[in-house]
Amino acid sequence: MPQLIAGNWKMNGTLAGIAAYAAGLRAAAAYADLLICPPAPLIAPLRAALDGAPVALGAQDCAVQRSGAHTGDLSADLLAELGATHVILGHSERRADHGESSAIVREKARTAIAAGLIPIICVGETEAERDSGEAETVVRAQLAGSLPEELAGQTVPGVFAPGVIAYEPVWAIGTGRTPTEEDVAAMHASIRAALRRQLGAAGATMPILYGGSVKPSNAASLLALPEVGGALVGGASLKPEDFLAIASAAPRD
Ligand code: 13P
Repeated sequence: MPQLIAGNWKMNGTLAGIAAYAAGLRAAAAYADLLICPPAPLIAPLRAALDGAPVALGAQDCAVQRSGAHTGDLSADLLAELGATHVILGHSERRADHGESSAIVREKARTAIAAGLIPIICVGETEAERDSGEAETVVRAQLAGSLPEELAGQTVPGVFAPGVIAYEPVWAIGTGRTPTEEDVAAMHASIRAALRRQLGAAGATMPILYGGSVKPSNAASLLALPEVGGALVGGASLKPEDFLAIASAAPRD
């Protein structure tokens, strides 16, 4: 099963930069499945510029509601119409900047699924939580609160699995620091066990991505760890050559 290498551009990228980025990705021959989540206004132009290249597109958030009087919010249905297949939900920056609770993330995931989008649900502990030995407890609570039961009973593997989990330790995001390989492997094993308990067979096959300072120099060792099904890449996804270097470090099975 190819790994899923997803890029989260966050609030970066410009319309003017799309053509060069797409040209860089079109040159790709990576074994991994590729997904780019640009700011929502760039989804359709990037889709067009990719010109049929096998790169999926996603959004970085969606509203709880499907439509209506919600100024500034993004409808999952519109994101799907623009060409998104995935949507990142519950990223720690949204949990911190917008006060998104796990309960809100679960509602958004329900809406995304109803609109035909695949939710990428993010979990991860702060540095203080890790230092006090609570990392696995915190992440399990986030999983328990954020995953909708609609994900149970669906077992499509790989990039088009009904849901994807991203483990992103908050202290590793944009800092250049990563957990040890042992800590990543232990957390991913803990997440897998929680997914199986919560979702049964579906939880056994959902990809679990690692995110937080993934770059070309550390990708091979992180992606080779057990239960790591790919990466969610921030800063290093902004340059196609770095993103592709990460994707080509994904193991072939
Ligand atoms: P960095 O790769 O820049 O650390 O960001 C990770 C992230 O938050 C991806 O969602």
